Amino acid sequence: MSGENLSADTMSLFSPRLAARFDALVVKYPLRRSALIPMLLYAQDEIGYLSDAVISEVAERIGITELDVRNVATYYSMLRFKPAGKFNVQVCTNISCMLRGGYEVYEAFQQELGIGHKGVTADGVFSLEEVECIGACCWAPAIQVNYDFLDELSPSHVPGILAGYRSKVENEGLHA
Ligand code: FES
Repeated sequence: MSGENLSADTMSLFSPRLAARFDALVVKYPLRRSALIPMLLYAQDEIGYLSDAVISEVAERIGITELDVRNVATYYSMLRFKPAGKFNVQVCTNISCMLRGGYEVYEAFQQELGIGHKGVTADGVFSLEEVECIGACCWAPAIQVNYDFLDELSPSHVPGILAGYRSKVENEGLHA
């Protein structure tokens, strides 16, 4: 079955839409394994993290071993092997952000959330990570929350940022 279309005739972990996307991706490149990183990112977006089952199915879809997948995936800090919070707060403390108060912003998030690097709040709403440059150096210090970029921050912004995301959970029924 390795390397064939999984979505048509087997149970998949992924939604039909994502399974179809994977089917298209693996034949898009001269080498099927070139689809690995985009597939892992899409899988993480849908499932939340790269579980053993996700790694197994991605490996099978591409036609490589699970060890091949892990060897590549562990190199990329944006890929997770444990569940993150509903909102994953990534605080840049790389040079530009550090020089403009990135560590103070990071400490404020740690205090407000009561968690440290790679931690997840007890209610599952937030996780926190200290990360390298996220490409917003001109507007340092910057953070990324899922796919939102927030910049030119100070510690005083932190409670309001978190309250805004909390209210999304409450108002939009986004359960953690
Ligand atoms: S150093 Fe923080 S965004 Fe580049």
